[in-house]
Amino acid sequence: MPEDSVIALILAAGAGTRMKSAKPKVIHEVLGTPLIRLVVQSVIAAGCQRVLTIVGHEAQTVIEALPIGVQSVFQHDRTGTAKAVLTAREALKGEDGYLLVAYGDMPLLRPETLRLLVDVCKDKAMAVLTASVDNPSGYGRIERDALGAIVGIIEDKDATSEQLGIHEINTGIYCFALDGLWERLQRIGNDNAQSEYYLTDMVEVCRAEGAEVASLQLNDPTEAHGVNSRVQLAEVAALLQQRVNARWMAEGVTMLAPDLVWVSPDSELGSDVVIHPMTFVTQKSVVGDGVQLGPSTRLVNSTVGAGSVIEESKVVDSIIGKNCDVGPRSYLRPGTVLADHAKVGASVEIKKSVIGAGSKVPHLSYLGDTTVGPDVNVGAGTITCNYDGEHKYPTEIGAGAFIGSDTMLVAPVRVGAGATIGAGSVITDDVPDRALGLGRARQVNKEGWVAAKGEDGRTRSDDEYHNEQKGA
Ligand code: UD1
Ligand code: MG
Repeated sequence: MPEDSVIALILAAGAGTRMKSAKPKVIHEVLGTPLIRLVVQSVIAAGCQRVLTIVGHEAQTVIEALPIGVQSVFQHDRTGTAKAVLTAREALKGEDGYLLVAYGDMPLLRPETLRLLVDVCKDKAMAVLTASVDNPSGYGRIERDALGAIVGIIEDKDATSEQLGIHEINTGIYCFALDGLWERLQRIGNDNAQSEYYLTDMVEVCRAEGAEVASLQLNDPTEAHGVNSRVQLAEVAALLQQRVNARWMAEGVTMLAPDLVWVSPDSELGSDVVIHPMTFVTQKSVVGDGVQLGPSTRLVNSTVGAGSVIEESKVVDSIIGKNCDVGPRSYLRPGTVLADHAKVGASVEIKKSVIGAGSKVPHLSYLGDTTVGPDVNVGAGTITCNYDGEHKYPTEIGAGAFIGSDTMLVAPVRVGAGATIGAGSVITDDVPDRALGLGRARQVNKEGWVAAKGEDGRTRSDDEYHNEQKGA
């Protein structure tokens, strides 16, 4: 990369009508990330110091999807790609160096490729990224002279049948020297089949000046796959999924069926992680060494410590320590923290709670707004009643406490360290350290209630029993 500054300009003003969507095309997601964000990440990774987007259709929605620090300029007359670039003129006043132009709907471009394109542009007026493809229809075709120099880019709609036979296409990605760019852009007209101001005409403008046009051909043409329809959205998503998964497998992750594993580009996986089918690792998740995920697990923006096992569960905005056990079929909601060696077993829901080191919530429980100390056992069916219909209240369970099965902890309430709660209790008052808390109806046994069965095998009703006791 040259030492000169490189600014990225991402075109995203188009309507994307073929998506047949209420939302703008560039905010449709692949692997949970809006298309335009992936493009922004790629140009930043390529070394661009400043990123500008051209917005138009549903501009506000597009702007909201952009990472902080990315500027946008509104394009009023959307009359072609040359006009789109010209829209940035005011915002880029006084800048020099190079301008890297990319599209908001092309999320597969590798930063290395973009860096190379800037390199080949060095001391040239422009460089074009091209690709050789089997089916060039719809794309601009690259025309070269006998020496291989680019002499023009012909749009599909303007091409002769001979030109339509060219398989080298214009990806629409360029690098321009900022010096002279704005004057050149103003020389582009709209005398063509679509009456649009074509950015591709820059090739002719440069050549008319005697300025050289450089080019770079993609080794991997899939990098230039863009999204114009839902089918292409699925294709691009599958390509990105393959690329991300191949990278992690190369880093020592086992995927039992890589087609059924989705890892977001922003997530990190440790070595010897094993991922079973139908598992999603999304947003910014971090998975430690030796973790086992899945089958059927969804991790959203969460951290999992080394050696933990999560099976058939959903984990959102949570932090799981080392050597924890979660699932099957549990749901850790935002704000859940499991300290090391904690266990959350089958069909447990936890929200905004801390579970202490070595503590266990093995079966069928709900804990919300709860702080559980270390080495606590929470019996099956325990529920924190943390909501009175208006407010949420906290529950605290001290270190080493034992909560009997089917306990209702009516918050706000505190169970002291080392305390025991009898099974089936409804606990409404604090329980002191090491005390036994009981809150349940006493058992009544009705001796002889079950009658000796008559010839018809009938068991007597409650009323019949009472009448008999009264001597009726
Ligand atoms: C363009 C290229 C074509 C290339 C193809 C690759 C031109 C004239 N043609 O064609 O050679 O093979 O890309 O995909 O450039 N946009 C704006 N404002 C506008 C017009 C377009 O922001 O006024 C944006 C669109 O949102 C889109 C991108 O620019 O992201 C490309 O525009 P589009 O009109 O779709 O160009 P193509 O016909 O695809
Ligand atoms: Mg198009």
